Amino acid sequence: MSDRLATSIGDMRLRNPVICASGEPVMTEAGIRAALHAGAAGVIAKSVNERAEAAAQLDRADYVELDAAGVPAAHGVSLFNRSGLAQRDAAEWFTALAAIDREAADDGRFVAASIVLAGVDGAEMLGRIARRAGLRVFELNVGAPHASEATPGAIVQETDPARLAELVARVRATTEGMQLWVKLTGLSSNLPALAVAARQGGADAACMMGRFMAMVPDLDTFGPVLGTSAAYGGGWALPIVCRFLALSRRAVGAGFPLLGTNGVRSGGDVARMALAGASATELCSVVMHEGFGGLTRVIAELDALLTARGVRFTELVGRAADALHGYGEQAVVPGRWRDFVPPETIA
Ligand SMILES: Cc1cc2nc3c(=O)[nH]c(=O)nc-3n(C[C@H](O)[C@H](O)[C@H](O)COP(=O)(O)O)c2cc1C
Repeated sequence: MSDRLATSIGDMRLRNPVICASGEPVMTEAGIRAALHAGAAGVIAKSVNERAEAAAQLDRADYVELDAAGVPAAHGVSLFNRSGLAQRDAAEWFTALAAIDREAADDGRFVAASIVLAGVDGAEMLGRIARRAGLRVFELNVGAPHASEATPGAIVQETDPARLAELVARVRATTEGMQLWVKLTGLSSNLPALAVAARQGGADAACMMGRFMAMVPDLDTFGPVLGTSAAYGGGWALPIVCRFLALSRRAVGAGFPLLGTNGVRSGGDVARMALAGASATELCSVVMHEGFGGLTRVIAELDALLTARGVRFTELVGRAADALHGYGEQAVVPGRWRDFVPPETIA
């Protein structure tokens, strides 16, 4: 693979823009090594936090793939699941991650610690532990979709920009010298304001956006699939994420790095996220659906796409976002709607 795939998040150079996102596939050292071996530029390890209830929730996790019509299927295109956090002591987990990160650094890759917010004090403590372990990247997820269903306080979603800026500033102080990436929720429409808050708090990048919460009625049992609401993601989410990336790029400015997550299934999807403003992407479902080889496939597809178009990855970043116009700037075309209704409407 060539240099055309290279990108960077601030002063951190990445070999390519495909990062294995936090999730069950990277809840073990073996999984993390497999993701790196598959070619990922880095891995965001499965999250932990300071609350035992959040880890205990993993024992009630369940997962189902849904087809394009939203029906459970053996090989679906969407993932619907409830999850919990890694059942590892944070200090021990971060020490293990740091050891793999040191090896990965020799190869120009990284392994990041990730936490799902429960409280400010806990986030500060975990930031300190990550720094002491020698990790280079800390991802703070303030928008895990399961917050509303988990034991109260075990997972907290932060959607208030002022509180987020304060939280990030406090975590920033404990992670000095590290890359601090803030992962934002998909369940709020104020993503641009939250990205600005993350930047104000001192984050190096904002990642968007978390998956959505859904309830899937089952046409055979007439009950809810999996018995609960759960997080829902699929390739269909990508255009929604792209809009928020573009709006956030406008709000934070092109100099502040954004990462895209939620809906990337192909090399073309990585390019779309880039055109919307993402300097890199985080992928999880691809690995759940097809194994770590999915990462290799996506990177190869992206490389082929860039080669065919004669561009470097970084030349894509923000191109579509910067060409995004408002409704009021569009040409006036009276009667255009007539082309999109049944003939009876205008008979
Ligand atoms: C089963 C599962 C577990 C996840 N666990 C975490 C987690 O612990 N921490 C986190 O920040 N994100 C977690 N995520 C979110 C992913 O990191 C990713 O952002 C999301 O799935 C959207 O990307 P995708 O469309 O490539 O799956 C999880 C996702 C899935 C599907």
